[in-house]
Amino acid sequence: MKSAKLILDNQTIELPIIEGSEGERAVDITKLRNNTGFITLDPGYGNTGSCESSITFIDGEKGILRYRGIPIEQLAENATFSEVMYLLIKGALPTKNEITSFNNELTYHTMIHEDMKRFFDGYPMNAHPMGVLASMVAALSTFYPENSEGDVDNNIIRLLAKMKTLAAFAYKKSVGQPFMYPKNKYSFEENFLQMMFAVPSEPYEIDPVVTDALRLLLILHADHEQNCSTSTVRMVGSSLANLFISVSAGISALWGPLHGGANQRVIEMLSKIEKDGGNYKKYVNMAKDKNSGFKLMGFGHRVYKNFDPRAKILKSASDRLLNKLGISDPMLSIAKELEEIALNDDFFVERKLYPNVDFYSGIIYRALGIPTRMYTVMFALGRLPGWIAQWMELRQAKGARISRPRQIYTGSTLRGFVPISER
Ligand code: CMC
Repeated sequence: MKSAKLILDNQTIELPIIEGSEGERAVDITKLRNNTGFITLDPGYGNTGSCESSITFIDGEKGILRYRGIPIEQLAENATFSEVMYLLIKGALPTKNEITSFNNELTYHTMIHEDMKRFFDGYPMNAHPMGVLASMVAALSTFYPENSEGDVDNNIIRLLAKMKTLAAFAYKKSVGQPFMYPKNKYSFEENFLQMMFAVPSEPYEIDPVVTDALRLLLILHADHEQNCSTSTVRMVGSSLANLFISVSAGISALWGPLHGGANQRVIEMLSKIEKDGGNYKKYVNMAKDKNSGFKLMGFGHRVYKNFDPRAKILKSASDRLLNKLGISDPMLSIAKELEEIALNDDFFVERKLYPNVDFYSGIIYRALGIPTRMYTVMFALGRLPGWIAQWMELRQAKGARISRPRQIYTGSTLRGFVPISER
């Protein structure tokens, strides 16, 4: 086995080198503190591998993303979302029989308990749907406790089937329309669309172009290895917390504007630029000025340093979709012009800042009629199978321990308590 040498306080320590199946290398420091008293410091974890995982592979330099070894481009072109869910969670593509029974299970468990429906009455009308989704998913744990081994498998299916119902109900609540119940005749994507957009008084027709665009978006968001929300799901799950509460924590982490919340902010930014007469330079200059506190939303990524393969797929998909639906959206031209200007600017070139998945996804959500405040909920729906697969992998990992980082303390050294009368 290869090893690395580290010299600390004149003592040389050998540390094993771990190599992944795609040649990624890591210095294994699991025994570092016990053997030397030192820890490593890596705020933001840019250099820290928190686990070994066989789910998703990313090569940020080459713009590669694969689920269980299969390139994202092939899945985006050919797979159904339920095949991708199966692939991520079970580890292999399903056979015909396997996908039929998986789809049946996903259909059978779509309803939520009527008592849960009443929870929606308690949220204010303008509640952000991400807050509603996180709390409703947490609430599932009170209806479906995890008492024995089999409960986990059932709860995985329940969560996959019910989360879209909760998401659609959160939207219906926000527009004051009656909830539309799931219907068994529909596929995963169709069922979500009818729960979002159908009304009881009118027949609802499913547009296959819209269904396919939704399929693509869900697949592209389905997993992304150890990002902020997934690491949160693993962190919470490492205490042996149940699936629902761990995923609810992931939804909360995703909401932040530096993570999944960026998709809502991108469209808000593009609308602002439009209202400002298309003054791109002003926004690019603001993003370059560290004192402005402004960032180009939908740009930059911790891992991708060349291009984000998801953004590449979405850029051409948004062109195709708008054409097919006969929509002319000024946001698409603004996005393209902004991208062009930023990609030719030294600040962005030097820092390797490229459009990420959130840059073009909003244009597609808009074309599908999904309101801006629902964009991050859409991201969460897509990411759900990834969170579940990662949570399962952690549960099944040999020797998994509770996640418990250390710190370098920089506060006061020992001092005595001073009674209030003497302060
Ligand atoms: N606009 C302007 N400057 C930026 C941007 C941006 N969008 N992103 C990074 N920078 C600068 C940053 O200021 C820093 O400059 P310097 O080296 O001079 O200090 C440099 O680029 C490196 O950035 P960083 O903040 O160290 O990078 P990070 O890996 O810590 O952060 C990021 C990654 C995605 C949080 C960040 O690029 C960002 O805030 N982007 C905007 C929000 C966004 O689009 N988020 C969605 C991410 S993709 C979907 C997902 O997985 O969540």
